[in-house]
Amino acid sequence: MPMSIEKFQEQGGRLKTDDLDFDQFRDQRLHPDVLRCLAYMHDIEYQTVLYTRELLVTPAWKDPQFTAFLTLWNYEEYWHGQALGRVLAMHDLPAHDERLTAMRRFNKRYLFWSPLTFWTLGHAVRRFPAVHMTWGAINEWTANAAYNRLSQIADHPVLTELLGRIMRQEGRHAAYYASYARDLLADQRAQKVTKWFLQHQWAIVGSGDVPKIETSFAGAYLFGSGDGAELIDRIEERIDALPGLSGLQLVRTAIAEATQHVLTAEGAVGSPLPQGSSTAASPAATDPG
Ligand SMILES: [Fe+2]
Ligand SMILES: [Fe+2]
Repeated sequence: MPMSIEKFQEQGGRLKTDDLDFDQFRDQRLHPDVLRCLAYMHDIEYQTVLYTRELLVTPAWKDPQFTAFLTLWNYEEYWHGQALGRVLAMHDLPAHDERLTAMRRFNKRYLFWSPLTFWTLGHAVRRFPAVHMTWGAINEWTANAAYNRLSQIADHPVLTELLGRIMRQEGRHAAYYASYARDLLADQRAQKVTKWFLQHQWAIVGSGDVPKIETSFAGAYLFGSGDGAELIDRIEERIDALPGLSGLQLVRTAIAEATQHVLTAEGAVGSPLPQGSSTAASPAATDPG
């Protein structure tokens, strides 16, 4: 059985930020590459509501446990976007509606049609819930790893605390999605359909929602080498452990492609980190469950 919504809602809710000193970002500025990743993450967090719009037109709306999850999940992701937007704003960068309006304009053709696409997939592909639950688990695992890695790279006291809190919620999201996916993937037909969609359609979260180079940059910068690549190994192990989905190498392949894309387009993956920046692996909070 998937995790019950009662268990999911025991923790979580609005991200607590009122005790964090955002003014510290005025004196202790984040590196431009870190801010570039944060801008991407801000966009993706806020994009959750539009993904919810797509999921709700699939037959999954019939399941009150799932719609309860969507409601709570969407609310939590909204506050992640809010918090990251505040960090951007402290650096006098565009955030919140200013970025979102541009993003929705950028992607308006896809967004116009996507509910119809999801309605069709949801009604034509009987095992579609296994696809979006597995997809969700992979994206939440990746989000968790991305915050973990960014926190290591930035090594900023306020950002570390903020991202640590976000990661705890991403871990719950991943656990819920994965338990639901595991349950649905007990069916061999669902395994086949899910495997097909992942192999043919899966891309790093945000692909298509923001300019491709931004998705590639975040993927390459955070996971292209060293400790980041090790975090991806852990995600691959988790995907491999899902019924019928071993050996896909999805994320690893996507990161290699992203790295190549950035090298071709920009010549290097980011500018050097300032002196004294720590990129040492932090064993803390790497396990989203
Ligand atoms: Fe989030
Ligand atoms: Fe999440």
